[in-house]
Amino acid sequence: MTHIKVTVDGTTYEDDVEPRLLLAHYLRDRLGLTGTPIGCDTSNCGACTVDLDGATAKSCSVLAVQADGGEVTTVQGLARDGEWTPLQRAFHEQHGLQCGYCTPGMIMAARDLLRENPHPTSEEVRQALEGNLCRCTGYQNIVRAVLAASAPQAGSGQQVTEEATA
Ligand code: FES
Ligand code: FES
Repeated sequence: MTHIKVTVDGTTYEDDVEPRLLLAHYLRDRLGLTGTPIGCDTSNCGACTVDLDGATAKSCSVLAVQADGGEVTTVQGLARDGEWTPLQRAFHEQHGLQCGYCTPGMIMAARDLLRENPHPTSEEVRQALEGNLCRCTGYQNIVRAVLAASAPQAGSGQQVTEEATA
């Protein structure tokens, strides 16, 4: 067992974990943060994406011990006082999800993109999300949602036109 101390969504936890425990399993099974799903366990689908120390990480490909001393933000840590972020609102308003399984990872990856590039083109959105797979939507509305969140009146319900095709 290895002792770790990690801050997740603003709360600091100390735990003894097996060195082989994946961060995704630590979040879900130890901390009960099941908002971060596991879609493949082989770092292909991106569903498990979280923010680790300011950069996105697929939590199924990171060991919990690698997060020791670090700060993790999951999709559950984004809303403040019950208020969604503009990006979360945009996914809702632009119908950027169907089953929702990919959505936490999509939102975390899109958040990372918008932090670095607040006004991406649809092509840049598609490139940024290429590590995140969606089985349901055909991606069109996901791209729309990210573009809506990057627009000046983010999340205000406006319709976003996307020039690229799916
Ligand atoms: S569950 Fe981590 S990438 Fe699919
Ligand atoms: S909404 Fe179902 S996998 Fe993306």
